Amino acid sequence: MKRVGFVQNNPVFGEVERNVNRALELASTVEADLLVFPELFNTGYLFLSKEEAYKLSETLEGPTVRKLQRFSEETSTAVVAGFAERVGEKVYNSAVVIDVDGSVKGVYRKTHLFYEEKLFFEPGDTGFKVFEVAGMRVGVMICYDWRFPESARTLALKGAQVIAHPSNLVLPHAPTADLARAVENRVFLILADRSGADVRGERRLDFEGKSMVVDPDMNVLVKAPREGEHAMVAEIDPKVADVKNINPLNHILKDRRPHLYEGLC
Ligand code: ACM
Repeated sequence: MKRVGFVQNNPVFGEVERNVNRALELASTVEADLLVFPELFNTGYLFLSKEEAYKLSETLEGPTVRKLQRFSEETSTAVVAGFAERVGEKVYNSAVVIDVDGSVKGVYRKTHLFYEEKLFFEPGDTGFKVFEVAGMRVGVMICYDWRFPESARTLALKGAQVIAHPSNLVLPHAPTADLARAVENRVFLILADRSGADVRGERRLDFEGKSMVVDPDMNVLVKAPREGEHAMVAEIDPKVADVKNINPLNHILKDRRPHLYEGLC
């Protein structure tokens, strides 16, 4: 059995050090094998310019990832966490994946950019990836990626037992839609969303919270409310996600008939 969960934080825009310390304080209130932090958990979301996104971005060797690595190593917790990743002159909306020994296993760069993210970030170039961490196969998609069932399906076809879904939800659909992503792929899914609002001058964005852990039968194992900061964990058996048969004659991946899915790719 594994303990998996999320940190739901409410970052103050641009106060990276404060936000990382607060998120790790929340993380320290639970014991887990895997914790998922929200999209852009260290910076906040409502960027006003490309220059601002660049200024707040960090490389994989930057202070945010280093602090997460230290947390992972000290607590033997694998971490998936969203941050603005600087690569040369480019900035990606990324999630770092860190194993229980504090080693960086890799990065996922958001495939489907939402609205004004297209002004600030490069479209992700990693493709959907599955990482072996904490004795589980963990795939990653970021926020708006949920709206494309191909994202979770690709991760399931690559063997993910758990889908980590760092998010900054500004629309209400994902906490319901993610139940479908879990059941149609028979995977566990961890939605890690933020709460509160980003207010930048005249502009304001409110976030949905409602982070949760869902099992392959669509059961919600733990769920945070819309408001407030929370760290929650559920106990799962990741091997349950390896069973793709829903009865002796139906296997949800082998039953697919891609030659009839004209126009899909
Ligand atoms: C979103 O993709 N952060 C809405």
